[in-house]
Amino acid sequence: MALALGCSANLDEYSEEVEESGTPDTVERRLLSEFEGSFPEKASPNGEMVDFEFAAIPAAVELFPETKTKVWAYDGRVPGPTLRIHLGQTLRLKFTNSLPQPTTIHWHGVRVPHAMDGVPGVTQSPIEPGDSFVYEFTPKDPGTYWFHPHVRGAEQLERGLYGALIVEDAKPDPYSRDLVWILDDWRLMEDAQIYDKFVTGGDISHDGRWGNVPTVNGRVQPTIAVKPGERIRLRLINSANARIFRPDFSALKATGIAYDGMTASRPFDPTGYDLAPGNRLDLDITIPDAPQEDTFQIVDRFTRQSFMLAEITIEDTDPILPERFDIPAAARVPVWAKVMDIPVDSKMVLNARRGGQYGIEWLINGLPWTEHESLRLKHRSMHRLQFVNQSYRLHPMHIHGMFFKVITRNGTLVDEPHWRDTVLVYPQETIDVGVVPLDKGKWLTHCHIQEHAEAGMKTLVEVE
Ligand code: C2O
Ligand code: CU
Repeated sequence: MALALGCSANLDEYSEEVEESGTPDTVERRLLSEFEGSFPEKASPNGEMVDFEFAAIPAAVELFPETKTKVWAYDGRVPGPTLRIHLGQTLRLKFTNSLPQPTTIHWHGVRVPHAMDGVPGVTQSPIEPGDSFVYEFTPKDPGTYWFHPHVRGAEQLERGLYGALIVEDAKPDPYSRDLVWILDDWRLMEDAQIYDKFVTGGDISHDGRWGNVPTVNGRVQPTIAVKPGERIRLRLINSANARIFRPDFSALKATGIAYDGMTASRPFDPTGYDLAPGNRLDLDITIPDAPQEDTFQIVDRFTRQSFMLAEITIEDTDPILPERFDIPAAARVPVWAKVMDIPVDSKMVLNARRGGQYGIEWLINGLPWTEHESLRLKHRSMHRLQFVNQSYRLHPMHIHGMFFKVITRNGTLVDEPHWRDTVLVYPQETIDVGVVPLDKGKWLTHCHIQEHAEAGMKTLVEVE
């Protein structure tokens, strides 16, 4: 059996060695010991089943008041239903495909059993129109997750298929309110209908399909009313095909407490944080109890031209006095600076070439999905993985089935106090990440810009 290059330390060996000699001395072993206890290896089902049932169906929704836009939607709504369960509970969804084409559901960020991962041709067959499929799993990690199709994503996500999955801690913190904001970006025509040419040459050769109508929870610039003094947990999810968001909550002095589902090791300032397609960001916000202003505009600042996403208005009522509790950010997240002392043992070089079905193919390590060569990672071993963006385009790279930690960007150490499942790799940028895969299987990895993925930017990470 071949050993993974340069990386033979393994969690089991680590614990045995410690007992024997008391001096774990390789860098890998020290990195693994830093990792230990970061997140659980196995789910701990408490025996409670939470059942859901819905279909993906063609529907019409009001993105703008009194204007119907034709969409495809889970349960006929955009966003689809927010599925809320507690850590330990088992989710069971009876899902029916009532769309005119095959689909699947992928549970973005959730460490699910392989067969529940929703990847056509890898973990399941596509669900044909009229057919049903039961998804059932017990999440291992609390946090903010979301679900979306993994068949023809560029069309199916754009048409409105997405929803949130919130896995609450067994004992959630007593926020006065727990809100989910799913951000999307639609390319609509004058008549408010979806521009229905998907995966165009322009989309592929640029940063995917950027739209002209941003929405929050399926509404254009909604107003959200809150009470003075409220303490809110706000969960942001970017479900757009391609747009990067950078929402500015500084006027409300928001604190970052979690990213990509996982709780941070310390509270962080979310100002300037990117929310690329796939990413989540959880904020802890206390609404002033004697506010000087009663409206706050939440503006997006990723693009040169900033624009309003939503407005928060403070109701003219007596302040709420929420129970006091500490900011929930004390998760174990290793710093792992020493990851840079071990060799790169897996690389994803990101680039494009002419050819293929769309005229341009997006590649990982020189190959499109149809010719992909899997990366191989060893279960429970320390790996240094490198993303090398040789192109001039943005690539939010997502890996299914595992969390990783960003160590450097262009060689400069960055200590993000949190894990990720998706990282935005800027043009010509190189990012090193550390990862210890705890779940065996063939996990898809891809650019979350749907048009890039469709044009080939996908491969598998095989954990064995
Ligand atoms: Cu949210 Cu494979 O993706
Ligand atoms: Cu990309």
